Amino acid sequence: MGRSLPHLAHRFFEVLRAKPLDAEEEALAKSWLDDGLWALFTGQQTADQRHGFHAGAKLRNVGRPDLAVAAMLHDVGKTASRLGVIGRSVATVLMTLRAPMSPRMRMYRDHGELGARTLETAGAPTIAVAFAQHHQGERPAEIPDRDWALLIWADEPGMPERVPGG
Ligand SMILES: [Fe+2]
Repeated sequence: MGRSLPHLAHRFFEVLRAKPLDAEEEALAKSWLDDGLWALFTGQQTADQRHGFHAGAKLRNVGRPDLAVAAMLHDVGKTASRLGVIGRSVATVLMTLRAPMSPRMRMYRDHGELGARTLETAGAPTIAVAFAQHHQGERPAEIPDRDWALLIWADEPGMPERVPGG
């Protein structure tokens, strides 16, 4: 677990506030993904779609569609556990305490690996597979420093979802 408590607390409230993408946001998100990846994106809970969109939108002017895809889909493995916000929060606390967890909570804990396999099967860019797998931990050798820094920045809150003028 490489993420701080404030990050997790912010995510909790972000989840409670999350609104579905509007038509314009949806069109933009869809323009970055092929049909298979779009299906994975929209299979996520509203809050995960909102979080992924926010991360992708931050990278939209970087000129690296592969990074935008990686940002948008890095949490796709969370869907498999079917845990809601409370179950996820409990799982996070249990993880921190290294306490025993239910199978679904373990799926949630392992969402990086699960997401990576899902993205690999769907033919996602290599960096999207790698970022899904490693985003909770340390940068793997296969992701260059600058790309990693951009992806971690994109995943953090604190910038408007709508990038002006873009
Ligand atoms: Fe994230």
